[in-house]
Amino acid sequence: MASVSIRHLGKDAPPRTAKKRGEKQGMNTILGDVSLEVADGEFLVLVGPSGCGKTTLLRCIAGLETITRGDLLLDGKLVNDVAPGGRDIAMVFQSYALYPHLTVRENLAFGLRMRKTPEAEIRRRVDEAAAMLELGELLDVKPGPLSGGQRQRVAMGRAVVRHPRVFLFDEPLSNLDASLRGQMRVELKRLHARLGATMIYVTHDQVEAMTLADRIAVLRKGALEQIGSPRDLYERPQNLFVGRFIGTPEMNVIEGDIASRKFRAAGVDVTLPDAFPDGKATLGIRPEDISILGEDGNENARGTVDVVENLGWESLLHVRVGELPLIARVETASAPRAGETVRLWFAADRLHLFDAAQRRVAARPTAVRESAG
Ligand SMILES: Nc1ncnc2c1ncn2[C@@H]1O[C@H](COP(=O)(O)OP(=O)(O)O)[C@@H](O)[C@H]1O
Ligand SMILES: [Mg+2]
Repeated sequence: MASVSIRHLGKDAPPRTAKKRGEKQGMNTILGDVSLEVADGEFLVLVGPSGCGKTTLLRCIAGLETITRGDLLLDGKLVNDVAPGGRDIAMVFQSYALYPHLTVRENLAFGLRMRKTPEAEIRRRVDEAAAMLELGELLDVKPGPLSGGQRQRVAMGRAVVRHPRVFLFDEPLSNLDASLRGQMRVELKRLHARLGATMIYVTHDQVEAMTLADRIAVLRKGALEQIGSPRDLYERPQNLFVGRFIGTPEMNVIEGDIASRKFRAAGVDVTLPDAFPDGKATLGIRPEDISILGEDGNENARGTVDVVENLGWESLLHVRVGELPLIARVETASAPRAGETVRLWFAADRLHLFDAAQRRVAARPTAVRESAG
């Protein structure tokens, strides 16, 4: 197993259309300046919207794309110019091409045979991977009748038998239906625990990111926005983009102004727990941090329940505060009905404030002194 160091990595490529027409044109920057240290045995999840460069970054790590700038190190050794075969990295793709005329056992063994691995060793590794991925019953079957989930397990098995130093996964579950994705998520977590392997896992599904990751790296337009534990990103997003990207339903976002320790917007009035710089600001509040007030207490906003989505134990309330739509996550047992007027309370210690550049704003240092003294 190995650590992966990505240092100021950049990737330029000619625009795809230009390539097709054979024109000479400027280069597009696909990855700007990405630096990332993945520890030995870590499960790092790379998330970001479609087209932000996730696949390109994986392909650079695997050696399938050349690196335009910067360095890539495996266990501290520079591998910029090492061919994919020499890197000992296995990649599992979203679309997994299994050989249709070979049995599952032969599919699993294929790569090892190409590398002239001794037959006894191949058998041992295939049996080990099959046991880990519960493919034992399927070893003599050809891929034809296999379900999507079973095929994806075979594709993972092909990576596992290689005993690679690093596993790369590019949205491996995105072709599966929701319940199977949930199941495979758990299996992947188990696999990681058993192998103790370094894994870099790309997804645009933030639930997968939150549940699988030791750390999450959020990529946007070829640049890293934030790297941290799922909890870090959820509780302390460093900018509005990360705040909105992590968490479903999305964080509520309210544009307004801060003046003398109050945040105000149309229909919204929040006393801040600390002093923040005055001026235009965006307040972010997650659905579970909004509650419905009873008779007592001061409200932060008052609105009308538009729609109630009952999810079982909890419900999502879609509330309108004037023009402003908000979502609150509440216990179904105490949920109001559509059409009711509700008084909303925001958990003051769970507010997120962002400045005009959409960066997280910290409380002014004077505030700390004030509240401490
Ligand atoms: N070989 C390539 N040549 C030119 N442009 C590319 C190439 N590969 C990817 N791109 C462009 O780079 C951007 C990032 O693509 P990609 O890494 O596939 O994103 P993601 O996997 O996050 O959806 C996209 O705008 C895509 O069109
Ligand atoms: Mg991709």
